[in-house]
Amino acid sequence: MANEIRFGIVGLGMGRGRAEIATRTPGAKLVAVCDIWEERGKLAEKELGCRWYRDYEEMLKRDDLDVVGVFTPSGTHGQFLLKALQAGKHAFTTKPMDIRIQVCQQTIELAERKGLVLAVDFGLRYEADNHRIKAALEQKALGRMIAAEMSMKWYRAQSYYDGGMPAGWRSRLETEGGSLANQAVHFLDLLLFWLGPVKTVFGKKGTFAHRIETEDTAAGVVQFQSGVLATVFSTTCSFPGQGTSVSLTGSAGSLVWHDGKVTLFERMKQTAVTAGDEPDYVPPENAATPEPEKLNAADFPVPEHLPQNIIEDMIGAIRDHRPVQCDGKTGLASVALFCALYRSSDTERPVSLP
Ligand SMILES: NC(=O)c1ccc[n+]([C@@H]2O[C@H](COP(=O)([O-])OP(=O)(O)OC[C@H]3O[C@@H](n4cnc5c(N)ncnc54)[C@H](O)[C@@H]3O)[C@@H](O)[C@H]2O)c1
Repeated sequence: MANEIRFGIVGLGMGRGRAEIATRTPGAKLVAVCDIWEERGKLAEKELGCRWYRDYEEMLKRDDLDVVGVFTPSGTHGQFLLKALQAGKHAFTTKPMDIRIQVCQQTIELAERKGLVLAVDFGLRYEADNHRIKAALEQKALGRMIAAEMSMKWYRAQSYYDGGMPAGWRSRLETEGGSLANQAVHFLDLLLFWLGPVKTVFGKKGTFAHRIETEDTAAGVVQFQSGVLATVFSTTCSFPGQGTSVSLTGSAGSLVWHDGKVTLFERMKQTAVTAGDEPDYVPPENAATPEPEKLNAADFPVPEHLPQNIIEDMIGAIRDHRPVQCDGKTGLASVALFCALYRSSDTERPVSLP
């Protein structure tokens, strides 16, 4: 393998920005881009100094290509990943990993069999504060975790659903999924990152304000394997948009995260710690309300070598054999979660995850 890790990117909407990162990241080289949209392809070829391909399989024939990044419509990610892995390339995709569980499983098996790196690009996994929060929860800074609430209130106009390439892909069940699968999957992944695997879900969904096949609003009750009880809500109908909040409730305190910022992180002043594996904070006896103590996310550790983006992450995995931030199995977990919520809504029954 050459000194530089050589990248090819397919899909130049969101993928254009990632291709640019590959041109300026030490240790990376952008050698190829692929898009059926000639204008986008030729512009990237000229501005980013790489070769443009209209045909994905032609790009994959290159020997001097180590990694393929997939940024095509969501319901096609699995097919593009499989082809890249079959051609012996390491591969990653933007979120969601795909919208179907089975094709995700096929990519995981193929990557394992071929000894190739497979990753999913979730931007929130590269934010230091999200790792600090995970460390805080592991250290039981909020005591024993009890509950969580995720609420994504975004606005997307009809033109968003009518646009894209192929036009309208964001509105179709075959290629998109809905507000949970396409937008809120970022925050489902964050909940899984912080709180671990899910046991059962109950979901409801509907289409309220757009001419689309997919849902634009979904709600669910989620029980984690740890027992933590959560609600999740996503909509693209909320004008002018209120961002996304995640609130975490522990036996000793609470944390609120809003659009990447910690807006509340407080617990009861520690007066006693019970023995055993699960330390608990006990307020002073007879105190009507325990005294609060502010916590600071910056006081909790960030893992060594945290990459800043998927390009650095892939380089670390291929060159230095480090684990990626979101591997195939981890990427599958958020797909399985939104599929379970959709199935529950369709069947009006709770769904257990394997
Ligand atoms: N923050 C994020 O992580 C983030 C943000 C936006 C979009 N995305 C994801 O990126 C993906 C693409 O979204 P977008 O908004 O860029 O869509 P888009 O429609 O703007 O871009 C998709 C691109 O893929 C190309 N394409 C489609 N089929 C192709 C094929 N067979 N071969 C080659 N190229 C093909 C299209 O021509 C187009 O340029 C989606 O999965 C979306 O969920 C992620």
